[in-house]
Amino acid sequence: MKKLAIAALAAAVLCGCSDSGADKVKMITEATFPPYEFLRGHEIVGIDVEICRAVAQKLGREFSCETVDFDSVIPAVISGKADLAAAGITITEDRKKNVDFSVPYVKTGIVVIYKKSVGFTGAEQLKGKKIGVQGGTTSETYVLNELKQEPERSRSPAESVAALKSGRVEFVIADIDPAKNCVKGEPDLAISDFITSEEYAIAIKKGQPELLKAINETIAEIKADGRLAKWIADYTAEADKLKDK
Ligand code: ARG
Repeated sequence: MKKLAIAALAAAVLCGCSDSGADKVKMITEATFPPYEFLRGHEIVGIDVEICRAVAQKLGREFSCETVDFDSVIPAVISGKADLAAAGITITEDRKKNVDFSVPYVKTGIVVIYKKSVGFTGAEQLKGKKIGVQGGTTSETYVLNELKQEPERSRSPAESVAALKSGRVEFVIADIDPAKNCVKGEPDLAISDFITSEEYAIAIKKGQPELLKAINETIAEIKADGRLAKWIADYTAEADKLKDK
């Protein structure tokens, strides 16, 4: 009896199957969103990946990351398929009903990508126009709620911009950083000022105060010690370079 208990204990220690868990910290994202997450060959890299890796490190656990369509990112943490949803996710009241958000790590917003030949004078100009957005994003919500019309949905900001270039849409709305990356090397395209003000945070399944605390502490640390600023600079440069190829 005693032997068994000891063996069980040893096994538990070996596989680390205690509280915080042996399992990896699983991040879920949508990796067409440079510099926050994008592909370097087959590897998912970017600012959000580094943040989540730092959270895993803090928890003393291994780390893994997977990419899915953006509208499947939040459902993946709700169902428990993943632990951390990090995909340049904007904190919204609607999303707060379904997940808990960490403290914000970036202040940002969405912008309009337009053809210089057409120009952009303000939001009124967008009414009744064909507008490309990545499905499931706050850009889509903007078109639905503010412009009260249906957007043309795509699976990535780059796909929306391809539609703009070929004339299938007249404007694109996207978050500023991927938008900047998309117009890089495109002399005919430009981006507007912010049309919204948003903040990114990490989303997790509700009711995990310990995990939330670890994430919030990690965010405070990477802000204070300069890691976050460095990742923003490094991954912006790397994502821009990928566009040169
Ligand atoms: N910030 C926007 C939102 O939360 C867009 C995020 C898109 N992220 C991505 N990885 N594709 O809706």
